[in-house]
Amino acid sequence: MGETDEETATPKPNLPWKLKLFLGAISWVIERSLRPNMTVNRRLINFFDPKIPPSPNPRRGSDSVASSDITVDHSRNLWFRLFNPSPTTSTGSDNGVSGMPIIVFYHGGGFAIGHANSMIVDTAARRLSRELRAIIVSVNYRLAPKHRLPCQYEDGFDVLRFIDEMDTEGLPANADLSRCFLAGESAGGNLAHQVAVRAAEHDFKRVNLLGLIAIQPFFGGEDRVKSEIRFSRGPFLTLDAIDWYWRAFLPEGTDRDHAAVNVFGPNAVDISGLRFPPTLLFIGGCDPLRDRNIMYYEGLKKSGKQVYVVEYPNAVHGFSGFKEIPESCLFLREVKDFMEMQMAKEKV
Ligand SMILES: *[C@@H]1O[C@H](CO)[C@@H](O)[C@H](O)[C@H]1NC(C)=O
Repeated sequence: MGETDEETATPKPNLPWKLKLFLGAISWVIERSLRPNMTVNRRLINFFDPKIPPSPNPRRGSDSVASSDITVDHSRNLWFRLFNPSPTTSTGSDNGVSGMPIIVFYHGGGFAIGHANSMIVDTAARRLSRELRAIIVSVNYRLAPKHRLPCQYEDGFDVLRFIDEMDTEGLPANADLSRCFLAGESAGGNLAHQVAVRAAEHDFKRVNLLGLIAIQPFFGGEDRVKSEIRFSRGPFLTLDAIDWYWRAFLPEGTDRDHAAVNVFGPNAVDISGLRFPPTLLFIGGCDPLRDRNIMYYEGLKKSGKQVYVVEYPNAVHGFSGFKEIPESCLFLREVKDFMEMQMAKEKV
């Protein structure tokens, strides 16, 4: 009875077959790389998602985006890949146009996989830079299980502090620190949220945070919500992988009701008094995280925060990074509108 209703009500992602194969292969590789003994087979992952060098001198053209790697802290291998969509522009102030907004971007991968120089992350960040006409700071934070909470949050926040103190030599001349955004996908969305919380209590010299873009942020909790059950076998992200990621990330002796996972759950930190930036939240209807993301939206609302939500009923987890998925183009337009709206507010 109820079950058939559920079946017919379940949205079916309609993916191009090539992408379906690719996503299937990637999730197969990831599932096999997350070992039961809590180690990661990085060689297998790097084979399918190889590391690629930055491109400081791209060929001229409308889609040329220059990239370079900048070290923040050698001792913990903290660095970021910087993407600049108009490397040939001289200083913005010279010709009367204001500088470009900066997006500090945190990649996904359950806090355990992905690198700022891996092909998938590089491609996604480059596309954001090109399409949004923004400087992207793509953060290479430390990974679990070797480095657990709060290493990722510390790295994420320290990059923001670092660019706040960077001299004009280090940053491109067209970068405008007074128009900064945080953005993150999946685990990166969780990270971006935590960085926004830390930033609310910090006095920056030049960085001015105008918004947070949370793309299918990775949140959870001890109890199972409907979407986690309905999409427990994916596509792309499975419940087994979700549980593995949390186990690898959380300190020993804690569970998924930890404040880092269940942000508005029983152990939540009250953020209602914080100066939290306006948030744009993306939700996928075919994502096991769907219901957790709705709870995040409700939590932000209840805390008195400004939050805009966009839900794509057919979107799978990770949709935004694949240009073959129609929703990823709609996504770019929404982000562009959101950024323009926040920047216009700042002007008056
Ligand atoms: C975990 O398992 C892998 C593959 O089975 C093995 O090569 C590795 O040595 C194991 N590591 C630990 C710490 O047990």
